[in-house]
Amino acid sequence: MIVTVETTPFGDQKPGTSGLRKKVPVFAQKNYAENFIQSIFDSLEGFSGKSLVIGGDGRYYNREVIQKAIKMAAAAGFGKVMVGKGGILSTPAASNVIRKYEAFGGIVLSASHNPGGPNEDFGIKYNIGNGGPAPEKITNAIFARSKTITEYKIADCPDIELDAVGTQTVEGMTVEVIDPVADYAELMESLFDFAAIRALISGGTRVVIDSMGAVTGPYATEILERRLGAPSGSVRNAVPLPDFGGHHPDPNLVHAKELYDDVMSPDGPHFGAASDGDGDRNMIVGKGMFVTPSDSLAIIAANATVAPGYARGIAGIARSMPTSAAADKVAEKLGIGMYETPTGWKFFGNLLDAGMATVCGEESFGTGSDHVREKDGLWAVLFWLNIMAARKESVADIVRKHWAEYGRNYYSRHDYEEVDTDAANGLMAALRGKLATLPGTKIGALTVEAADDFAYHDPVDHSVSENQGIRVLFEGGSRVVFRLSGTGTSGATLRVYVERYEPDPANHGIDTQEALADLIAAADTIAEIGKRTGRSAPTVIT
Ligand code: G1P
Ligand code: ZN
Repeated sequence: MIVTVETTPFGDQKPGTSGLRKKVPVFAQKNYAENFIQSIFDSLEGFSGKSLVIGGDGRYYNREVIQKAIKMAAAAGFGKVMVGKGGILSTPAASNVIRKYEAFGGIVLSASHNPGGPNEDFGIKYNIGNGGPAPEKITNAIFARSKTITEYKIADCPDIELDAVGTQTVEGMTVEVIDPVADYAELMESLFDFAAIRALISGGTRVVIDSMGAVTGPYATEILERRLGAPSGSVRNAVPLPDFGGHHPDPNLVHAKELYDDVMSPDGPHFGAASDGDGDRNMIVGKGMFVTPSDSLAIIAANATVAPGYARGIAGIARSMPTSAAADKVAEKLGIGMYETPTGWKFFGNLLDAGMATVCGEESFGTGSDHVREKDGLWAVLFWLNIMAARKESVADIVRKHWAEYGRNYYSRHDYEEVDTDAANGLMAALRGKLATLPGTKIGALTVEAADDFAYHDPVDHSVSENQGIRVLFEGGSRVVFRLSGTGTSGATLRVYVERYEPDPANHGIDTQEALADLIAAADTIAEIGKRTGRSAPTVIT
């Protein structure tokens, strides 16, 4: 039976950089998840009888919301739901399933790299038929709907069996529980030279992946251990757990430090990678070399043709504005398009659909390509292994040679987490207020050349997205970018992105923070970070 339930709006269901993210107790309020899911359905047209993909990263509250979403999809008139076994689908795998089976769209349940648990984070994101996050036009409509919603519809039926692959029916709608890994593993095998990677591994290159108790465990185990022949145990923390085993599943130098230290130790593995809660991020570490995500994008682009799926070459590269300009040098050399978008993967969708960009990346440990419409952690890992296998060189050699050829973009992001929201907004407002007067200002040896608030004009649909981050450019090409996070769930997070380009290989061996010290100091002077936030140091440096 389909029932209509009366409800009242919550005022706070505005999707951020990547869907709606809140603490579990917020999502667990009566009707909260239902209101948002119904607002999604009410903002879409033409899905009657079509398929919806549903899956999540297995975090706390995943199963509960999956049950609600399936029952509401049946009530809304979808013809079929495809759901990962156990409610599991990594974000890139969900994107692939949507595309491969030509679903109308998908609901991805995750709070990405944020911790999971009864008092931690949860999230709901809607993806459109191209497999990518809904564009702002749709997320704005969802938010508008959530503010006026008065009722939702849901099938009144027992819970759906999620733990066995197979087909069931809910109020006339088919529910197909699918193997979450198979389609994705097949896609990866079609893109990369698995034989070469197998030879690399059997030849003695020790590869480890830390899945951080999150969703990539089953994917990495199938691909790395079963298909590529790495010894069992090469995938660490491989079982997805509701609280990620207490890990903060954010693959960076702070949260994946154990893996980093292991790879850096003389007897440790040659190559290490980590992924995040929902499997779309990646961190790449080689012996003696941490690869910044910005460099990783540039190096993947420069070496793309070694992978069979990219042998024809790439059409263009896209990066988010705060990401370093390392990839720009590669695009210049290859004579292909280079696109600078606002933060958030949703801005890449149009460029990928239009065939203007083939690979894209963000400094926030996100890399991907037109094979899906999300960033893809394991894809990046396999790309690196394919490059190492083809070039027969270590990560450190590949990176150093890349710098020697293109120059090095020293790069770091400083995050000030959970700062007072008013203080953070005040800081940004003050920065905006002085944009016009900044050019010409001298701070130590640095001179501000230009300053603006980044606005993006989408070359495909001509939409405009404003206020996407304050850029301060210095003479000589260095820059500092300031923006507030759109994914946090408590207080505000100020992100400060610092970059300096160094063409001379003689200067490529400097410690990153040291190489950027003058710019880091200038950022504080310009934005009055210490004074306004009361913080003397960032919470996380990546
Ligand atoms: C962060 C990252 C951004 C990424 C997003 C989703 O968003 O900075 O690059 O796309 O997470 O993974 P932010 O919190 O900065 O808005
Ligand atoms: Zn993620």
